[in-house]
Amino acid sequence: MKNERGSWGSNIGFLMAAIGSAVGLGNIWGFPYKMGKSGGFTFLLIYLLLAVFVGFVIMMGELSMGRKTRQGVVGAYHSLSKRFPWVGWLAIFAPFIIMSFYAVLGGYCIDYMALNLSNLAFGGAELTSGADLFSAMLANQFGSVAFTLLFLLICYAINRGGISGGIEKFNNVGMPALFVMLVIIIIRSLTLPGAAEGLKFMLVPGYAVKAGFIASSPGLVTVLSAAGGQMFFSLSLAMGAMITYGSYLDKKENLVKNSAVIVVADTLVAFMAGIAVIPAAVSNGIRNGVEMSQIKLGGPSLLFITLQDVFREMGAAGPLFGVIFYLLVLIAAISSAISLVEVVSTFFLDRAARKGREGNRHKVVFWVCVAIMIEATIVALDGLGSNGLWVPGQAGGANIRPWNDCWLDFMDMMSEGVAMPLGSLLMSLMIGWEIKPKTLLNEIHHGSASNIDRFFSICIRFIVPLAMAFILLGQINDFFSLNLF
Ligand code: PHE
Repeated sequence: MKNERGSWGSNIGFLMAAIGSAVGLGNIWGFPYKMGKSGGFTFLLIYLLLAVFVGFVIMMGELSMGRKTRQGVVGAYHSLSKRFPWVGWLAIFAPFIIMSFYAVLGGYCIDYMALNLSNLAFGGAELTSGADLFSAMLANQFGSVAFTLLFLLICYAINRGGISGGIEKFNNVGMPALFVMLVIIIIRSLTLPGAAEGLKFMLVPGYAVKAGFIASSPGLVTVLSAAGGQMFFSLSLAMGAMITYGSYLDKKENLVKNSAVIVVADTLVAFMAGIAVIPAAVSNGIRNGVEMSQIKLGGPSLLFITLQDVFREMGAAGPLFGVIFYLLVLIAAISSAISLVEVVSTFFLDRAARKGREGNRHKVVFWVCVAIMIEATIVALDGLGSNGLWVPGQAGGANIRPWNDCWLDFMDMMSEGVAMPLGSLLMSLMIGWEIKPKTLLNEIHHGSASNIDRFFSICIRFIVPLAMAFILLGQINDFFSLNLF
């Protein structure tokens, strides 16, 4: 029965899929922006340290947990831990919630790609500003729901094909294509006038404040938790994604090497995405005489307002770059979304197998996507809070909680803000102190001769929990606007 779970066709296929999961919206709008805002090189340095001592270690932990148990995230925790069997539920709740907004944002990418495509074919790129387009799209509830549905249909079509027949196939083509498109956009971005200012914002410590992009530098704890939160989200950790993907991996594959490749590739793409978007956005702002502090360099408005303006004002070739860019973002979003859908689907398929039934992948993926569509419809209708929908915690028209600007923030707070850091804190305690690092090291040593035992044990027992506690504190401080530091 075990063999019927399916598996990756090749190690490269697995790597493409894992990198696909990691490379997503987080890389494109999170990393460059947070890097600039939080002190350029200082942020990069902290990010890299965290990636090596926390990200890489948890990556090995998750992949080995999946491969050892040959089960999705709930099953993996159940069979490994007596004290924390329920953590798996946290790691299945989070991806499900993340999909509520990921699908909507993916839908927006399809919308913008179609728009640039029609501008390319019929002209008219100069018609509307990014800000007008974006607010029109948010207010168009029917359109937002329709594009969200389209995005989920694409995910459904891929996930129903299975691990090697769907997910691996998509990423084998999608990832190299994404890379090539990214290089094209980087070349275009760096050759725009004023691009150097954007590079300095990203790389030079203190430049963001000096040049007036932001008012003041954040404190060290804020930077630490911003870098940590970003790293977790970006590497798809504590979401069950890597446990799930690891559970389909062959015993002979090298988990140490694979983990290192995923971490390096994800960080590299995040950095490249920064060079692709920030200089272009800054260059356009300077050209239009916009004050530095008013240029939107992160979040949805970076993608759908600032960059759309860049393409609109680029002349005849603008829409072509627009199509390439939004397709790139769309591929990044799909390859991440399918890993989230797979976490939930694998859970149901494994559960059926445990009960001695043969799970029907088509049916399971279908119902998972239906459930996601229901929650995503709320986020789509809300249009980032522009359509006056009630948001949890809102009373009598007043926000009594700071996250309540919109449904997307609320969903993000629950998943990225709480479930993710809490889940990985508990995971490191479970591995380090309950089942002991040795249990997973035995698994890691299948296919790898590297002697990483001391490094792994020390990191997972001491460094990871400490870092996680900080990150959790920082995230709570951030999402609840507590201003503790
Ligand atoms: N890593 C993805 C990103 O950077 C998001 C993601 C998180 C995907 C967790 C899967 C699991 O956008």
